[in-house]
Amino acid sequence: MSEINFGIIGTGRMAATMMAALTAASGVKILAVSSESKDRAASFAKFHAIPQAYHGIDALLRDERIDAVYIANATENHYQSTLSALNAGKAVLCEKPIAISASESKEIEQAAARAGKLCMEAMWTFFLPTYQRLFKSYEETELGTPLYLYSDFGYPVSKEVSPRLYASTVGSGVLLDRGVYPIALALKLFGPVNQILGKVDRTPEGVDIHAALQLFHNNGAESQLAVSFRVLLQNRAVLSSTSGSISLEPPVIGAESIRVSRASLELPTLGIQSLSIKERLKQHLRQSSLLRRINTIKSAGKLEHHTYGGNQYLPLINHFCELYRTDKLVSNVFSLSASTQVLEVIDQANKL
Ligand SMILES: NC(=O)c1ccc[n+]([C@@H]2O[C@H](COP(=O)([O-])OP(=O)(O)OC[C@H]3O[C@@H](n4cnc5c(N)ncnc54)[C@H](OP(=O)(O)O)[C@@H]3O)[C@@H](O)[C@H]2O)c1
Repeated sequence: MSEINFGIIGTGRMAATMMAALTAASGVKILAVSSESKDRAASFAKFHAIPQAYHGIDALLRDERIDAVYIANATENHYQSTLSALNAGKAVLCEKPIAISASESKEIEQAAARAGKLCMEAMWTFFLPTYQRLFKSYEETELGTPLYLYSDFGYPVSKEVSPRLYASTVGSGVLLDRGVYPIALALKLFGPVNQILGKVDRTPEGVDIHAALQLFHNNGAESQLAVSFRVLLQNRAVLSSTSGSISLEPPVIGAESIRVSRASLELPTLGIQSLSIKERLKQHLRQSSLLRRINTIKSAGKLEHHTYGGNQYLPLINHFCELYRTDKLVSNVFSLSASTQVLEVIDQANKL
């Protein structure tokens, strides 16, 4: 297996988190890290035993030994960092969201095509075994025709704990930070959207902190999505089809459990005289609270467990490395044009 030399751009929480996955991936070597602060680059490199620390992205991009970069700096810098890396001839794995608007993302698509370099947004959830199971169920119409998605992602987070999310500068807000996940899922399943309804709540400074969206897809399906910094949502995604539903159980981001429920196609109850013995027995049993309780448990569906193992980001890193080693320029699971479509929905939601 050929070795891939990585450079890390950014030294924040996510860069530190991703170190474990990059270190665990086979055939990956982390050669350098860069930061806008010389001291942060040096201390990050020392802590993670990275041989080279660079002050500024340009210095790292001049390092010819580096094949690929993982970009995890602040959201508003993703666009420029990705363009610079592509222009320097590096393959790019960029944190979500890859840009802050569809037009920026479109430019990235064009730059990647011009450079002939692999570039993708780190939509890591799509590589988890539970999401793969959901996609397979969808493709195989295991539960009939899929027509409706409910997906949400939200838990309360305060300005004090996460000032980055509330900053009244570009790149902040719940749509860019959390909205990308359910929107990407809706588009992956049902494709392009022709109408968006909903409501976006903002702070007095204009930062979006809660959003409820209804997407109407060209294929006739509908998605009901919610994201929040304000309240604890269900953190679940339920795909409903004509014969049943399949759900990514909480926490939807990082789900390891899936619930499969099959619709029981019972005939409507007729008048008591015309009921069969079986129906009459059923009616009688419905008077038992214990049996109703058992029925509640049964109708909740079958729970399946699909673990991602030790690190939730490793399946994404393995996918990126596989694409790199096989000279692919676009991910077949989450392409750059999918990134652009997600940002198109966010652009429109921002106008609601
Ligand atoms: N995939 C996921 O599960 C996930 C989870 C969380 C976040 N993210 C994404 O990852 C990106 C980074 O998020 P984050 O949570 O890592 O944000 P963060 O901790 O605020 O760091 C963002 C960047 O801010 C700079 N920075 C400025 N002052 C800093 C300081 N005192 N300490 C550390 N860094 C400082 C760093 O870049 P420099 O060193 O270059 O200045 C750092 O890379 C965001 O775009 C976010 O959407 C993804």
